[in-house]
Amino acid sequence: MGIIAPSILSADFMKLGEQVRTLEESGCRWLHIDVMDGMFVPSISFGMPLIKSIRKDSRLFLDVHLMVKDPERYIHEFAAAGADSISIHAEACAHIDRTLQAIRDEGVKACLALNPATSVHAVDYVTDKLDMVLLMTVNPGFGGQSYIPAMTKKTRDMRQLLDENGCENVPIEVDGGINGSTIGESMEAGAEIFVAGSAVFRGDLASNFRKLSTRTLGEPQDDFVRIV
Ligand code: DX5
Ligand code: ZN
Repeated sequence: MGIIAPSILSADFMKLGEQVRTLEESGCRWLHIDVMDGMFVPSISFGMPLIKSIRKDSRLFLDVHLMVKDPERYIHEFAAAGADSISIHAEACAHIDRTLQAIRDEGVKACLALNPATSVHAVDYVTDKLDMVLLMTVNPGFGGQSYIPAMTKKTRDMRQLLDENGCENVPIEVDGGINGSTIGESMEAGAEIFVAGSAVFRGDLASNFRKLSTRTLGEPQDDFVRIV
């Protein structure tokens, strides 16, 4: 599977609806939504009301990335707002096992996100509760940063670890600094879902999206597409 997940953190919020529609018309299936709380990361972005509005008018798979301390407090609310997947950070959550289960109990895909310096072994004892793994390929908090080269090896190591634990169908999502120059090595290392903020929203949205999409292989697996 190969998916480009444009991150609306880099969108023009005066034109958000228009930009989301343009992406949908360009064949986009996923939207990445970065929720920041000003605690786990310095910045504050947006939350449930925005997701609700997008959900109302869009069939995109809403991939919600919680850069939020103690995310267990908000799982129900983000699910109710319309998230299709929810990523929680291993570094921000004291009860990872329980929180992943809580996400699944809401009927939402459960994903564990890891900062660049966090070991791949953070997933060791929760592999049975994972629908996806998100590897940060920059330090979380801001769009427009450069891909950290060491994350290519980390992606390869994570792919191997997942495969060895019966998680062949659990895809790796990479987030940060993904563009035409970095997507190739990340894909080669085993990533299948590519978050792209500035590489999609800077300049001509539709053309940027199409160019990046032609670099990916195949369509999303059925259960990673929103069925309406
Ligand atoms: C960073 C966010 C990313 C960000 C990526 O903390 O999680 O999703 O929007 O932006 P680019 O693609 O510009 O690095
Ligand atoms: Zn993100």
